[in-house]
Amino acid sequence: MTPPATSRIPIVVIGGGLIGCSTARALAAEGHAVLLLERDEEPGRRATSAAAGMLAPQMEAARHERALAASPAAEGSMRALSIASRSMYRDFVRILEAESGRSIPYRDDGTLVVALDEEGREELRGVAERQRTIGLAAELLDGGAAREVEPALDPAVVAALHLPDDHAVDNVALARAALEAAAVRGVEIETGRPVDAVEIDGGRVVGVRVGERSVEAPVVVVAAGAWSGRLAGLPRVLPVRPVRGQIGAVALPAPPRLTVAGPGAYCVPRDDDRVLIGATVEEVGFDHLPREGAVRELVEAAARFLPGLVEGGDLETWSGLRPGTPDDLPVLGADPDAEGLLYATGHFRNGILLAPVTAATIAALVSGRSPPVAIDAFRPDRFAA
Ligand code: GLY
Repeated sequence: MTPPATSRIPIVVIGGGLIGCSTARALAAEGHAVLLLERDEEPGRRATSAAAGMLAPQMEAARHERALAASPAAEGSMRALSIASRSMYRDFVRILEAESGRSIPYRDDGTLVVALDEEGREELRGVAERQRTIGLAAELLDGGAAREVEPALDPAVVAALHLPDDHAVDNVALARAALEAAAVRGVEIETGRPVDAVEIDGGRVVGVRVGERSVEAPVVVVAAGAWSGRLAGLPRVLPVRPVRGQIGAVALPAPPRLTVAGPGAYCVPRDDDRVLIGATVEEVGFDHLPREGAVRELVEAAARFLPGLVEGGDLETWSGLRPGTPDDLPVLGADPDAEGLLYATGHFRNGILLAPVTAATIAALVSGRSPPVAIDAFRPDRFAA
């Protein structure tokens, strides 16, 4: 049925990736009428399905500690958001499984960050101490102990940071379940047409424009991932940009049990004996086409700590566009200059991990409650200067 030229829906969510679907579902679960608008014919086919599904804030912090240390306040806020979301994950998966009737593989074997030389070992020692100081589980193992935990590791591994609480989820199964759960909760889902503009009148959002059609809504949530910055009509420049990630997968006769990250690559095992190997970080605009050889280079880097990778069969490759921001932090919360306009975007490397806390935050804000964790560091107007 062709929708009428003007239809009245209380909440519009722009974007059908995991963030959009989870947020729409959470809003619908609280009794709101929600319309989700996805530009692609099939939701969840972009960054959501390109990801590896790591729920690994401690591993991400260990590998990107120097960048985060530039702003201790931002580091603390991001850590609080990430750890809160990680702690919500099992319930999030259970609820989506129950509502969708689909199973979502979840691996709680933990994560290892490995070092191949003494300098790497010392870096991991410092990370372990700092993470333990703030109450996180992080143990530095020597090479032998690391191979007891993960026999697939190469003898060249001299040390490993063991992070038992950093888990992994099958993000493709998760995204499908989130979409179906949203539909079960009554979210109306329209695909195949991009939202062109957010419409604002007198300091408040009044809806969105999709081609010639206006959709009236007093609440609009921007969850369009890398495409969020392209929306016209926003009261501010939203500096969300695409950051390409290429990734690959091989099936292995003896895959690792744990997620393993090391110099130049990370590897995430799946229940079907495939191992995902990621990921490039490339500033190439909206070009999502793979670069010849990029994933081969990742496999070569990973084979230095997981030698079994060379026994893998055909290499499957794909890529996605992460929504990056100038400070690598998400944009999460209400626009101070447009009542009813909310942002749930810019999740960069952490979109899968941050889905539960993002959905809970937006649902809380719409319903007039405090968000589960402080979100000031993620406010949309922080880029103004
Ligand atoms: N979270 C891992 C990545 O973005 O590559």
